[in-house]
Amino acid sequence: MKNVAALILAAGKGKRMQSSLPKVMHPVAGKPMLFYPVRLSKDIGANKIVVIVGHRKEEVTAAFKDSGVEFAEQDSPLGTGHAILSAEDRFKDWTGEVIILSGDVPLVTEETLKRFLKSHREGGYALSLLSTVVEDPTGYGRVVRGSNKGVVKVIEENEASSNEKKIKEINAGIYCISSSLLFELVNKVEVSPTGEYYLTDIIKDAIDKGLKVSAIRVNDPLEVKGVNNRIELSTVNRVMRKRIIEKIMLSGVTIVDPENTYIDYGVKVAIDTTIYPDVFLQGNTVIGEGCIIEEGCKIVNTNIGRGSTIKSRTLIEDARLGVEVTIGPFARLRPGNIIGDRVRIGNFVEVKNSRIGHGTKANHLSYLGDAIIGEGVNIGAGTITCNYDGFKKYKTIIEDRAFIGSDSQLIAPVRVGEGAYIGSGSTISKDVPPGALAISRVKQRNIEGWVEKRMKESKE
Ligand code: UD1
Ligand code: CA
Repeated sequence: MKNVAALILAAGKGKRMQSSLPKVMHPVAGKPMLFYPVRLSKDIGANKIVVIVGHRKEEVTAAFKDSGVEFAEQDSPLGTGHAILSAEDRFKDWTGEVIILSGDVPLVTEETLKRFLKSHREGGYALSLLSTVVEDPTGYGRVVRGSNKGVVKVIEENEASSNEKKIKEINAGIYCISSSLLFELVNKVEVSPTGEYYLTDIIKDAIDKGLKVSAIRVNDPLEVKGVNNRIELSTVNRVMRKRIIEKIMLSGVTIVDPENTYIDYGVKVAIDTTIYPDVFLQGNTVIGEGCIIEEGCKIVNTNIGRGSTIKSRTLIEDARLGVEVTIGPFARLRPGNIIGDRVRIGNFVEVKNSRIGHGTKANHLSYLGDAIIGEGVNIGAGTITCNYDGFKKYKTIIEDRAFIGSDSQLIAPVRVGEGAYIGSGSTISKDVPPGALAISRVKQRNIEGWVEKRMKESKE
């Protein structure tokens, strides 16, 4: 196989983003923008991936340290040509084909890049760039073609003549060239009047050397849309979201309102699941077959078993849910829950860092934190685990088939034995043996005629 490297430009400040976050770290469908060119490099079989970092490089390198890429550092942001030069060291003992990608152009598809490489190789070009035709070319480098339609140069907006500015074919910032020619040419780039070294200058230099250069057009300009500000970020997010959602729909999932459904890259949804509007599925969430996710739910890093229903306005984070569970409406599962099969968690129930056994029900108004709850348990309305004494957190253990009467407080650490009953309104601070009834509320007194007496007194 041919030696193919990807060189990804990600050192710029992205000043038009007006952000303290490096541009390439801004999320697109839940992943930092830079994730996509890295992914693409792998998809096309690059056996070396070099990311050029500079502005706030610590954040970028930390996020991508385990993604199989190398980093090259550009010490000051002196332009795309200067950026490439700072990666020269990384190619000292390496020769082959280099594909240059931009960290801020996340929508390029594998098919397009493969087609680009095919044309580059089959056409026998020394240098190819990807271009597209846009209605409004403002801000982009223009592809200038000669009388024979061949590429002559790429001219940046601020150096273009008024005639050149009218050209609608723009440079997408994606190139293919051999490593030896790349570094030969980029070493010769001279500083532009703006103080930057433009990578695009290598195109004219290659042509001047009599080499074959081609600009290969991509039909859909959105694919090579660069993100320079937050408006473009939202456009790119919309396109990415649409792609993800259409792929999921074609795989057999009903999405009631695709424009108002937000599914991150990498989320998996099995067939015959239905997703209602305003749902956010994030992180590495996996939804099983035949589930229903009702409107307004947010589900993050969670595994949901088949046949489950997540009712309206429920928030679930970092959880594993069994099959055929029903959660919500208006439930909140904070991180760390492991929920068994056919569990029911109803409205206004909050659960945190707990294990809940198969078939257990907590249908109304509860807080269950740091609890280990067995199978077939009934948690009455308003039950609260008091897991925190102001200093430390403690566990509540509720064994199989226990019945917790409504409005009970379980003061942890405490254990309710198998099959035990807790009378409604109890405050349980001691362990309850299996099969026992625990009741702690005061006995009821009825004081006859109390109201009338009270009325009289107040009038006196
Ligand atoms: C660049 C191209 C332009 C093309 C456009 C496509 C040049 C000179 N211009 O312009 O022809 O139409 O992309 O989107 O190449 N970067 C660095 N170090 C730097 C400067 C930039 O690593 O010193 C990185 C940025 O992080 C970014 C990429 O290079 O990922 C492109 O830089 P940007 O400043 O956005 O270039 P454009 O003005 O968009
Ligand atoms: Ca750009």
